[in-house]
Amino acid sequence: MKRGIVPGTFDPVTSGHLDIIFRASALFDEIVVGVAQSEDKNSGPLFAVEERVGFIEAATQHLPNVSVRAFDTLLVVFAHEVGASVAIKGLRALTDFEREFQMAALNWRLDPKIETMFIMAIPEYMFMSSSAVREIARHGGSVRGLVPDIVCDALEHRLSEAR
Ligand code: PNS
Repeated sequence: MKRGIVPGTFDPVTSGHLDIIFRASALFDEIVVGVAQSEDKNSGPLFAVEERVGFIEAATQHLPNVSVRAFDTLLVVFAHEVGASVAIKGLRALTDFEREFQMAALNWRLDPKIETMFIMAIPEYMFMSSSAVREIARHGGSVRGLVPDIVCDALEHRLSEAR
């Protein structure tokens, strides 16, 4: 039984993240999506961790081997907690490489038993990010298709509250 984790902040989950989760679920017996609380990331996430977990649960409910959990520990500790030995990350443009390379090296230093594996983003999602989605939505642009519909509706609602 090979179990992997797909970790991230997912604020909010995008179609690019979901593509990585779907592809990882085809490669592993079980995938646990780990949603980092990241309460201290800049000014804090737009969506609470429970909301971010809920969006991914809704978008992956057709995949019986995918579950979603929040975590607020080191990634390698979370991996052990859920019995996973591989962390799967998506790689987009070259700009991701340095940060991901650093995180993979640090995680290896913290616990070499946890392997990091990368899946390349498909060209369609190469330039997509949660921060770009938030920025487009904040300025009134449409993000339909870039995120699941449930997230699109939640973004419209959340940002209209803030106006
Ligand atoms: O979506 P993100 O922001 O690229 O995800 C980053 C994440 C959550 C994977 C990373 O911040 C993380 O692993 N956080 C847990 C804390 C940790 O283990 N840090 C040490 C590794 S650098």
